[in-house]
Amino acid sequence: MTGVQVRTATDGDWPAIVLLENTGFGTVHHPDDLAAFRDLVPAGGTVVACEGATVIGVAFYLDLRLTVPGGAILPAAGISGVVVAPTHRRRGVLRAMYDELHRRIADAGYPIAALTASEGGIYGRFGYGPATVDHGLSVDRRFAVLHADAPDPGGVRLVETAECGGEFAAIYDRWRVITPGGLLRPQPLWNDLLADRPEERAGGTALFALLHPDGYALYRVHGEHPKTARVEEFRAVTAEAHAALWRALLGLDLIQEVAIGTYPDDPLPYLLTDTRLARTTGRKDHMWLRAMDVPAVLQARRYACELSVVLQLNDGFRSDGGRFALTVRDGQASCERTEAPVDAELDLDVLGMLYLGVHRASVMVRAGRLRCDDEAVVRRLDTAFVSDVPAQLGFFF
Ligand SMILES: CC(C)(COP(=O)(O)OP(=O)(O)OC[C@H]1O[C@@H](n2cnc3c(N)ncnc32)[C@H](O)[C@@H]1OP(=O)(O)O)[C@@H](O)C(=O)NCCC(=O)NCCS
Repeated sequence: MTGVQVRTATDGDWPAIVLLENTGFGTVHHPDDLAAFRDLVPAGGTVVACEGATVIGVAFYLDLRLTVPGGAILPAAGISGVVVAPTHRRRGVLRAMYDELHRRIADAGYPIAALTASEGGIYGRFGYGPATVDHGLSVDRRFAVLHADAPDPGGVRLVETAECGGEFAAIYDRWRVITPGGLLRPQPLWNDLLADRPEERAGGTALFALLHPDGYALYRVHGEHPKTARVEEFRAVTAEAHAALWRALLGLDLIQEVAIGTYPDDPLPYLLTDTRLARTTGRKDHMWLRAMDVPAVLQARRYACELSVVLQLNDGFRSDGGRFALTVRDGQASCERTEAPVDAELDLDVLGMLYLGVHRASVMVRAGRLRCDDEAVVRRLDTAFVSDVPAQLGFFF
């Protein structure tokens, strides 16, 4: 790429960055929205691509803390705000910024990098795989009948969203440390969420809030005839809180549909006498992960059974792959480089898919994405990578 320089962003670049972000995503963001994210960017964490004095590309990473199966918390570089000007697309500008940004992420010692993707076809080549799934459900609540066995613990209060930030944050924090994919949410991002700016409402009302001692639901109402309640955030630390909040949401008499983006194993359908009423409206990738330090990442999580396997991990982007022996004994994992014969071969993006236990090795084998001749090894990988707590994305970034 001639004539394009990638460098650290300066304060003076931010007006051009804001214009680029708004243009790239086709949304006019409130200035405070970007500022909240900027607070989480470490020094040197924003790069811009420039042609002469003109900023034509931007990418930054947030300093995040990611919960993995078993409850360990890893420093994670959360890449966000990636835009290349429409006047300069498909000339390698993203690749040049990614080269530089990942060099910085590796130098800063992050074992893992994460992102949420605007499109599904971009990031596999950079070693990212979709680790959590966003499962859309919608319930026509006029016909929803709670099952006789569904818990009915009560305890839900209607509260003013802006007044209960402290309660939401405390519950969220209990939830994120036990949930793989959970992310520590710093105060600037809480302030941003609770500011509930009209620009962020997608045509809906201000946020309504339901609060239980162990959970909360934030939702907006869209439309007039009929009205739909879209749940923006639902966090429940206990099954009782989950059921109690859903009883309240399904009790919104004048609402026709209650819609939520949740995770595949959400028990919501089984709270109903007719599970079919919880209609699947979509399913797509949510958080993408890329191992930067393979041994650190594989050692950090817990596995559901003992394991001894040699993995060949191919990294077509950087040189973080290689051959690794992963051993799990007495609940402790160890992982180191090896020259031993390979049991299974996969690209780094596939490791990202398996890591939080949402996707299975045997499915990857059938798709040709994981090569392994020994069915017993595949079954072992299937079992070992299961997470007893289903993974979910902490928050969109
Ligand atoms: C997505 C975007 C950043 C790509 O920037 P770009 O400079 O055109 O990308 P590059 O030319 O560096 O492409 C790098 C590689 O990604 C591929 N690629 C780029 N955009 C792609 C897309 N939308 N879908 C599939 N592949 C894509 C290129 O083909 C290229 O592949 P290769 O290097 O393996 O041959 C740019 O189109 C953009 O700003 N889009 C709008 C905002 C957005 O979606 N940002 C991403 C937020 S997650």
